[in-house]
Amino acid sequence: MIVGFVGSGSMAAAMARGWVGEFEEKLFSDGGSGRARELAAQMGGEAVSNEEIARRADLVVLAVKPNRLEEVAPELRDAREVVSVLAVTPLAQLQAALPNAEHVLRVMPNVGVEVRKGVLCAAGTATDLVWMKTAVLGLIVEIAEEDFDAATAVMGCSPAYLALAAEAIAAAGVAAGLDAELARQLVTETAVGTAELLRRHDPAALRRAVASPGGSTERGLEALEREGARRAFAAAVEASLERMRE
Ligand SMILES: NC(=O)c1ccc[n+]([C@@H]2O[C@H](COP(=O)([O-])OP(=O)(O)OC[C@H]3O[C@@H](n4cnc5c(N)ncnc54)[C@H](OP(=O)(O)O)[C@@H]3O)[C@@H](O)[C@H]2O)c1
Repeated sequence: MIVGFVGSGSMAAAMARGWVGEFEEKLFSDGGSGRARELAAQMGGEAVSNEEIARRADLVVLAVKPNRLEEVAPELRDAREVVSVLAVTPLAQLQAALPNAEHVLRVMPNVGVEVRKGVLCAAGTATDLVWMKTAVLGLIVEIAEEDFDAATAVMGCSPAYLALAAEAIAAAGVAAGLDAELARQLVTETAVGTAELLRRHDPAALRRAVASPGGSTERGLEALEREGARRAFAAAVEASLERMRE
């Protein structure tokens, strides 16, 4: 099976890495920067035109910025199976731009796809094989199209918010005297364990389990509430949503 990436930016690179060993051939295109050639060299693929991707690929991943859809769509006339990762671009718009495609799947992935631990919100249709290949990248959650923007704000953007929390906690550890590399490792491995626990426990229950009454975690949580941590995360999600509506 041949996969072709129309657009060779951050998301195409993350998906291509997650799909290592999954396809016989990988094709890449770009808007002229040379990133397709670089990615093809890294991943063992070929840099080709959009038309060639449409002709040769069994699965076309549309990974340009949303405002490039109208420009690239006429070059993808021959594409049959399309997975679009374009933010804020509804299925109806994709189907209208790609009228010859037999299946169009709208997917909102997050960067976790690179390590096959992504979350992929999905709507639309695809062959069983395309569903299977998509599922290799992480957890697929089928959602209503009207929920895409809110879901994107929560799962698409949040790796960056969680990274900021990790960065801030590690920096505070350094300020308290820890070696920077050690602080980073402690926070990272704590995040891995916490993610696993959050699969099993409600976040409030997990918080209560760590924060014994009168103890140091409770004091820390009080400081977070006082300093507006909750408000700050709510504002981040709201600001992301606002940007998507613009
Ligand atoms: N980054 C994320 O975490 C994330 C998450 C979910 C969804 N997405 C979606 O994924 C899509 C890509 O995002 P990104 O972050 O990967 O953007 P990006 O890094 O800017 O990459 C966009 C790519 O599209 C290429 N391109 C532009 N015009 C083209 C054309 N005419 N033909 C072929 N390729 C063309 C660009 O080429 P050049 O290299 O020549 O500029 C670049 O390689 C967006 O629609 C975004 O909404 C991204």
